[in-house]
Amino acid sequence: MTGANRGIGAAIAQGLAERGMTVVVGARDAASGERTAQRLGGRAVPLDVTDDGSVRDAVAHVQQWYGRLDILVNNAGIAGGGVGQLAGDVDLAVMRTVFDTNLFGVVRLTEAFLPLLRKADGARVINVSSGTGSLTWQSDPGHAFASTGVALAYPASKAALNMLTVLYAKALAADGIAVNAVAPGATATDFTAALGLSLERTAEQGAAIAVHLATVPAGPTGVFLQDDGPVPW
Ligand SMILES: NC(=O)c1ccc[n+]([C@@H]2O[C@H](COP(=O)([O-])OP(=O)(O)OC[C@H]3O[C@@H](n4cnc5c(N)ncnc54)[C@H](OP(=O)(O)O)[C@@H]3O)[C@@H](O)[C@H]2O)c1
Repeated sequence: MTGANRGIGAAIAQGLAERGMTVVVGARDAASGERTAQRLGGRAVPLDVTDDGSVRDAVAHVQQWYGRLDILVNNAGIAGGGVGQLAGDVDLAVMRTVFDTNLFGVVRLTEAFLPLLRKADGARVINVSSGTGSLTWQSDPGHAFASTGVALAYPASKAALNMLTVLYAKALAADGIAVNAVAPGATATDFTAALGLSLERTAEQGAAIAVHLATVPAGPTGVFLQDDGPVPW
């Protein structure tokens, strides 16, 4: 899984390990990934989702160690900071950086791991999206997300990720691979702290829906879920 060394990703990794799964901790910082893997009894791979070579090496490691991948968790994500994202002042370089991680990173990982996912029996891909990527919620003046006046790049990248989830779910159904998106909810992590948010929700709580989708027997495909059920696209 990606971004497994801290925040919601570390909590997803922990939840999967507690349920008896062998977790491959993908982390940009090799030492931090190793520490997490040691704690969980898993293995670590250096992994930057924006780097083709890094992703290729990670695939080669998983191929060599296990010969297949049962679950791919695309968790790595960035907000892109507070500047260069507001309507009327958009910096395309910022937008490209956000899309490179949050969207193209997921395509890069999914495409690269597809041969190993196809070798598993009923593999699953879980895309960590966001409720801010819901077109329905963003266009509902009564919804909290519609009035936050947030930046363009991040929600747009997550909306595109949602579309990608639907398309991959359809495309990979014949391979028996389930592809779903989750909304962790506003969670206290470095990500939200950097945005100046003070939140109660723990990383474990934010991780719970991804852990559920990863482990529930005969899970769904092509859905967007939060703790209490579907999120409208
Ligand atoms: N927190 C929330 O309220 C919230 C709500 C909705 C959705 N989400 C989503 O949940 C996911 C995790 O967020 P978080 O709150 O746990 O954020 P976080 O604490 O900032 O952690 C982000 C993780 O992503 C990794 N990452 C960033 N860019 C990467 C790259 N290019 N390659 C590989 N890893 C990369 C980071 O690695 P480094 O340690 O190397 O930086 C870190 O492990 C994100 O997709 C985010 O959009 C979060």
